[in-house]
Amino acid sequence: MAKIKNINFNNFRNFKKFKTSFDNKLNILFGDNGSGKTNILEAISLVAKGRGIRNSILSNLIKNNEENFYIKKNLEIKKNFFDVEIFTEKKNEKLRKVIKVNNNLKKDSIDYLNQSVSFLTFTPEMERLFQSSPVSRRNFIDRLIFSGRNNYNKLINRYKKILVERITILQKDNYDIYWLNQIEKDISITGLEIYKLRNDQLKLLNRNIKKLNNAKNFVFNIDLYIKDNFYYSELNVDKYINCLVDSRYYDKINGVTKLGPHRSDIKAKINSEFDASLLSTGQQKTLVLLILLSQCFFLINDKNLTPILLFDEIASHLDSFNRQLLLDLINGFDIQFFLTGTDKDLFSFVSTNAEFYNISNI
Ligand SMILES: Nc1ncnc2c1ncn2[C@@H]1O[C@H](COP(=O)(O)OP(=O)(O)OP(=O)(O)O)[C@@H](O)[C@H]1O
Ligand SMILES: [Mg+2]
Repeated sequence: MAKIKNINFNNFRNFKKFKTSFDNKLNILFGDNGSGKTNILEAISLVAKGRGIRNSILSNLIKNNEENFYIKKNLEIKKNFFDVEIFTEKKNEKLRKVIKVNNNLKKDSIDYLNQSVSFLTFTPEMERLFQSSPVSRRNFIDRLIFSGRNNYNKLINRYKKILVERITILQKDNYDIYWLNQIEKDISITGLEIYKLRNDQLKLLNRNIKKLNNAKNFVFNIDLYIKDNFYYSELNVDKYINCLVDSRYYDKINGVTKLGPHRSDIKAKINSEFDASLLSTGQQKTLVLLILLSQCFFLINDKNLTPILLFDEIASHLDSFNRQLLLDLINGFDIQFFLTGTDKDLFSFVSTNAEFYNISNI
């Protein structure tokens, strides 16, 4: 089991100093708007890989008018304890993030953390996930893949980088055709890998959601799928390359890559009839919670990972059904939870032994 035992930080977001320990499985942070609840979740979510719950750039994490931030936390992973320090450092005017595990910079320990700690997050924006833009749905699925596969962000970053590289080459007057061919091959291999991983992820979620449905008699069946004008199941590297070659002129003129997984949308069909965007806001929240619950099953049972759940502003608009879902999550798994809300009373339905933290008083 992976657990954050305690945390302290300086000059992080709105906090000059913050320090607390987490002894319970269920931790509830409550406080006024702007008191710093999401910021604390963000500090918790920064372990090694990724950019945290807000996917924010480093400079925004530093408290206004300060030079650097410093976070230290103690993590328990499978009964071993790790002191993790994350801080910024400025060298030649360039800001960089430094990670130390047990007071050293060894890559092995950082890799071990990356493999052993994963987060599942719910953010308030997710309530409108199926009504918002395709990019937020892609990011949502990508985060789920990332939670079970710690190299996935490297694949995505690499893909984005080579897309830019290809456009730069195309827009030059004289370009090296050999180099362009190589890049397009690389894009095809990487792009296909992303399509495959997303497809696998969605299939897995569909399977697990079905299992949950059978157990709970939910009112709707859910089928998550990729909507993409280019992708089809027989797509291979050669066909992919040919399409990229065909779209060179278009891509050069428009400065974009017309096809690939960065253009996909992730849709959900309800009861084989209608799109999830037609569900009510509350029903969409149920859908997102179900997806997270399914992912939790997968990480624990198939990946032998115990994710840490960060659910920001989870308590608003929870009807009894969604409350039950949340309680199922909390009671069903021996994992650490962090929930936030503006009022302590919003969590009165949580009967489990929970620790409450009043952030307004800090
Ligand atoms: N780099 C920074 N330096 C100083 N303050 C910051 C920085 N980044 C964010 N803040 C401030 O931190 C405060 C707390 O933000 P946070 O999002 O954590 O609040 P919250 O408790 O989650 O509020 P809500 O209930 O509205 O979600 C905000 O007032 C925000 O402006
Ligand atoms: Mg918040």
